[in-house]
Amino acid sequence: MPNTADVRARTGGQDVRRIAYSQQEIASRVAEMGRDITEWYPSGEDLLLLGLLKGSFIFMADIVRHIARPLHVDFLVAASYGAGTVSSGDVKLLYDPEAKLQDQHVLLVEDIVDSGHTMNRLIPMLEKRAPRSLEIVALLHKHVAENLVREPRWIGFDAPREFLVGYGLDHSENFRNLPFIASL
Ligand code: IMP
Ligand code: MG
Repeated sequence: MPNTADVRARTGGQDVRRIAYSQQEIASRVAEMGRDITEWYPSGEDLLLLGLLKGSFIFMADIVRHIARPLHVDFLVAASYGAGTVSSGDVKLLYDPEAKLQDQHVLLVEDIVDSGHTMNRLIPMLEKRAPRSLEIVALLHKHVAENLVREPRWIGFDAPREFLVGYGLDHSENFRNLPFIASL
């Protein structure tokens, strides 16, 4: 139900174009991914999930509850976008995790892979810290990036090449609180 009173109450009156993924679709896909991740790692070994803020905060909260493994959670803050919707290609780390990455199974949790600039800058930085493994789980992947240094091992949805908001994703910091994913 896009653009109902409930949506407008959450967005300050702004409308969305259409719902791309419903709350139910997201929930069942995230549960499935959690099961796949649980099975993929060798049993008895702990994981360190590193979420990319802010967009991944809801995805992180949901997926950790579907991973039946001992795990720790930390976050990274990388800034690449200003108020607009076009990637600048410039990535800055504003917060670096305190957790030690060396010899850890590090799983990077991304909301969406668009140009791939963020990943392409981050992966080499994280690899220098000698994790035992370094994998990516992305809720959404637009498949526009042509030379990703590493493809996500787990992808929630192959996303349309539209600007998406909701379920943590923003446009100028708005729309993160929509329970579904919509295009603008
Ligand atoms: P990339 O560096 O172009 O791959 O973009 C990565 C980051 O840009 C993501 O982690 C998001 O925070 C943001 N982003 C990219 N596409 C979208 C979108 O469609 N909606 C909201 N945020 C996006
Ligand atoms: Mg963002």
